[in-house]
Amino acid sequence: MTSKIIIDTDPGVDDALTFLLALASPEIKLEALTSVHGNIGIENTTRNALAVLELAHASHIPVARGCELPIISRSYNSGKNVHGVKGVGNAELPEPKSKVVNQHAIDFLIEKVNAEPNQISVFPIGPLTNIALAITKEPSFAKNIKELVIMGGAIKHGGNATPLAEFNIYADPHAAHVVFHAGIPIKLIPLDVTYQCLLTTADVEEINQIKSPIATFIKDATSVYINFYKQYEGFDGCALHDPLTLATIIAPELLTFEEYHIDVDMSGGISNGNTFADFMKVSKKPANMQVAMQVRGKEFIELFINRMENLCQKI
Ligand code: RIB
Ligand code: CA
Repeated sequence: MTSKIIIDTDPGVDDALTFLLALASPEIKLEALTSVHGNIGIENTTRNALAVLELAHASHIPVARGCELPIISRSYNSGKNVHGVKGVGNAELPEPKSKVVNQHAIDFLIEKVNAEPNQISVFPIGPLTNIALAITKEPSFAKNIKELVIMGGAIKHGGNATPLAEFNIYADPHAAHVVFHAGIPIKLIPLDVTYQCLLTTADVEEINQIKSPIATFIKDATSVYINFYKQYEGFDGCALHDPLTLATIIAPELLTFEEYHIDVDMSGGISNGNTFADFMKVSKKPANMQVAMQVRGKEFIELFINRMENLCQKI
């Protein structure tokens, strides 16, 4: 049986690779994309969502435009040094012909989830602003959603936005706090596992043995991303943070989850956006999520490459 998912996203190079992996995976029915501020501003994240679907011959999938700012802060944290000024590296995507739906992402999420109780999983792979506001606007949303599979946080791993905070959570810690404590079943995919899933230059070249606009896009989109990692992290490759969320459906055996009470620092100080686990259970609070703490990263990358090659054969 296929899993119905909506991806809430700030495309973003690894976000775009996630859409392609979802479209290349028969286990998944990609119902929609909802855009949010994050790696780049909302105009570009929304445009990129439409344009990548068009590139992949999937313009039939609806896109709803979401929030352009975090809940409290009046500015968004751009990741253009990582994802390029347009958010998809050096890739040149044509202006999309398709348009967003005539509904805000918050209302779109509420309507889609409430129309099919316990059927739709939402995969937030950007800041959690849309999700938090859907929970706040319509309490039935939290009851009717099947689960959230969130790319975000760093538990035992250092941060990538600050030494203590991962980008998606740091970009809107108040939203993360609302989501973490809404009582929704959550699987968290933190940096602890995503940094073990590196797509290398050689992997990109292997995919490009197949002549396809998808292969070209992957090469052009990851070029800036890989250079960033080479320059700042000293390794050849880019972490497939967002695509790893889909392993919960297409290869769950590759992930090992542990249950913890996870909270987020929103005090605005030096550790703002830090996500931490109550390992010693000192708070006496029950676990609020399953956290992926181990991954068979090489096998995930092999699966990703294989699925991209299959997609490139078709497009
Ligand atoms: O920290 C990694 C996350 O931040 C990913 O979702 C990436 O796309 C950026 O949004
Ligand atoms: Ca993202």
